[in-house]
Amino acid sequence: MRITFHTMAEVQAKILILPIFENSEINAYTAKLNANCNNLLTTAMGSSNNFKGQKGQFLDVYLPSEINGVERIILLGMGMRTDFDLARARDIGGKLALQCNNNKIEKAAVIIENLELENISDSEVAINIAFGAKLRNYGFYKYYAIKQEEHQLYLKSLSFGLAHDATNVQDTFLSRFEKIADAVHLSRNLTSEPPNVLTPKAFADIALELQQYGVKVTILSESEMKSLGMHALLGVAQGSINAPYIAIMEWKGNTNNNEFSTAFVGKGVTFDTGGINLKPTSGISDMKTDMTGAAVVTSLIKALATRKAKVNVIGAIGLVENMPSGSAQRPSDVVRTMSGQTVEVDNTDAEGRLVLADVLWYVQTQYRPNIVIDLATLTGAISVALGDITAGLFSNSDTLALQLSKASEKSGEKIWRLPMGKEYDKQIDSDIADIKNVGSGRGAGSITAAQFLKRFIHDNVAWAHLDIAGVSWVKNSSDLSPKGATGFGVRLLEQFIWDYVEKN
Ligand code: BES
Ligand code: MN
Ligand code: ZN
Repeated sequence: MRITFHTMAEVQAKILILPIFENSEINAYTAKLNANCNNLLTTAMGSSNNFKGQKGQFLDVYLPSEINGVERIILLGMGMRTDFDLARARDIGGKLALQCNNNKIEKAAVIIENLELENISDSEVAINIAFGAKLRNYGFYKYYAIKQEEHQLYLKSLSFGLAHDATNVQDTFLSRFEKIADAVHLSRNLTSEPPNVLTPKAFADIALELQQYGVKVTILSESEMKSLGMHALLGVAQGSINAPYIAIMEWKGNTNNNEFSTAFVGKGVTFDTGGINLKPTSGISDMKTDMTGAAVVTSLIKALATRKAKVNVIGAIGLVENMPSGSAQRPSDVVRTMSGQTVEVDNTDAEGRLVLADVLWYVQTQYRPNIVIDLATLTGAISVALGDITAGLFSNSDTLALQLSKASEKSGEKIWRLPMGKEYDKQIDSDIADIKNVGSGRGAGSITAAQFLKRFIHDNVAWAHLDIAGVSWVKNSSDLSPKGATGFGVRLLEQFIWDYVEKN
């Protein structure tokens, strides 16, 4: 979708969208237009029993004859003026995109003129409505061969009219927000791809495509992983005919510095059958989404590279398929990780932590980052605790946890910190090896998973783990995302980089 910003005089559209605040006077622009069409707008508002300008309400008004080329006006409810914020603006943008698609509208102009909000400029409102609209204007339709007609996006172009010169607004949108939205869409695409298409090899090839944006991409093959001693990751992969890969993406946007400050690590299980601890029928097909951590990391690096962020960061993803077969690992196998610690594989379905253990260790020894953040669809238990709204945050650093929480509030992607502590460690003590991969007893499954990962974090590294198993794929749509893959994490972590890494 094309999104452009203009001064009022430059706006040309047959369909105009006018924001209306709940229980508030219409603004000067709307009042003037209303006068030009015989008070049709206020008449329509008055005769409609339910249009009050509440958030996300729409009122469609067709003009009897066109005024300056305008044939149709859609009044857009903004909710109460007093509690309006940028999150609301994004949500309204999302609702607007949905409304346009439902009405097969291809092109419209939104007038954001003299809203007179306290603390929020018209430009910010316009950018955030545009951002929300672009995020929501998404569908994964590529596999419809004969049903294409019912599955398409109609909205192709949204322009915004502002009271003032719009060059800066256009620049801000293009240089940052459009790049983020494109990355969110990439992340959703990857999560939605079926697992027969998106194998570890196919995923590694997609990571390689980031080279076109100046990202240095290295792929580790199975034999290289063997020489590095990554037997935890390799053990997960050994039941599949699809070989594992690790892709490492280096983005160097800070020319004053050679060090990599931050590393992002993603779980990329392209399909998780559970292995020999085979999952039951119910829910198993959702396990194509078990590579979402890797999708988010790859998309985040793309966002940072395309917006030329002045930071040096690493993205590393462990790509494997967890299958049962004659060559699959067995429950009770003992494997040696790259770190030297041995692991008893008590349950082959707790495979994500085995993959992450080796990728985390590799990234820390190779690049010595100060901050490591991993993303993983790690435990079903996290959605029992937090549903599909909020991701679980685990961290060994109060500073990093606070920064992520603030970035979360700004971006609107919700996270909640859960506790860790050595008291939980005895649940993952093993009778035969240094550690086992599942906690004994039923409680605290997401925490014991985080305790496991922490064993593979160097001292002095600020580390955070985001368990995104609940939020990566949703059964119901939201204002910013249709049902299905959400791309959760891209916006949160881009905001974190913007506020706390780039500005340092
Ligand atoms: N990929 C799953 C976690 C998951 C569950 C993601 C539901 C998305 C939706 C993970 O590999 C897994 O199987 N975890 C087990 C851990 C258990 C064996 C300790 C789980 O949560 O049941
Ligand atoms: Mn599993
Ligand atoms: Zn898994």
